[in-house]
Amino acid sequence: MELRHLRYFVAVAEERNFTRAAQRLHIAQPPLSRQIQQLEETLAVQLFERNSRPLKLTETGKFFYSHAVQLLAQTAELESMTRRVGNIERSLSVGFVGSTLYGLLPKIIRRFRDENPTVELSLHEMSTTDQIRALKDGRIDVGFGRIRLEDANIRRVVLREEKMIIAFPLDHPLSLSKPVLALRDLVNETLIIYPKTPRPSYADQVLAAFQDRGLKPRRIYEVRELQIALGLVAAGEGISIVPSSVYGLKRDDVSYKELDDPTLVSPIIMSTRMLDESGDIVEMLALIYRLYDEAKIPYVPPVERGS
Ligand code: BEZ
Repeated sequence: MELRHLRYFVAVAEERNFTRAAQRLHIAQPPLSRQIQQLEETLAVQLFERNSRPLKLTETGKFFYSHAVQLLAQTAELESMTRRVGNIERSLSVGFVGSTLYGLLPKIIRRFRDENPTVELSLHEMSTTDQIRALKDGRIDVGFGRIRLEDANIRRVVLREEKMIIAFPLDHPLSLSKPVLALRDLVNETLIIYPKTPRPSYADQVLAAFQDRGLKPRRIYEVRELQIALGLVAAGEGISIVPSSVYGLKRDDVSYKELDDPTLVSPIIMSTRMLDESGDIVEMLALIYRLYDEAKIPYVPPVERGS
């Protein structure tokens, strides 16, 4: 059995469909089916239920899947950490969700480049969910996202809890009515949420904020991304709940209003591979806290390792 077999098996198990798995792996479907068959023959077990649609794992398949995923994550970790130990070419790939570009991300990247001119830094926009897979595949080394996703191979650090604010079309009567508003003031509005996919996403944090208070907006309008949500707000299609760093995105056709509830926040979370303690990552985290101190931005105090 080779690593290739594990990669193929995990893709089929996750996509629950040979065609989609083949697309994800950028190979044709017949060789993929042959490799899975070969794997089942080598192990002398059945990993998938015969003729199930969508494909279902057998109990043995479920056992094999949980171990295969861990092995692949460890392999990716070993690869990228060995490259770093060799230190021939220092590089750091950073995944981020779009909204962090309106926070400190640009400053962090500029400062990191200034202070570490020999590190080749690359940036990749992707959802928090995609960041987890990219970390495990070794395609990125650090992810900045907003969703708390549990994974035994991933270390999460909640950096700060960013307040949510309301984006209104200019001169919307509600935005002129009171200095601060409650979510319950917004239930008769069309709520524009993003990103529509993949889920869970920031959209679900906003929906949960309403649900937790027993509230239901009159209409939900799901869009692909923050910029589209703001454009539609400007066009008068509805209102949106956005992280407060969006204030920085000055638009003269949108006005922002604070919410009265300090628990309405969205976290900024840094994710890395669990065992990756390379100097570049430690340095980036220290730089982030330094920038928070310089800009007097409140943050979640770091937790000591092992506590
Ligand atoms: C921040 O705005 O706090 C932030 C954004 C991206 C990465 C890290 C922190």
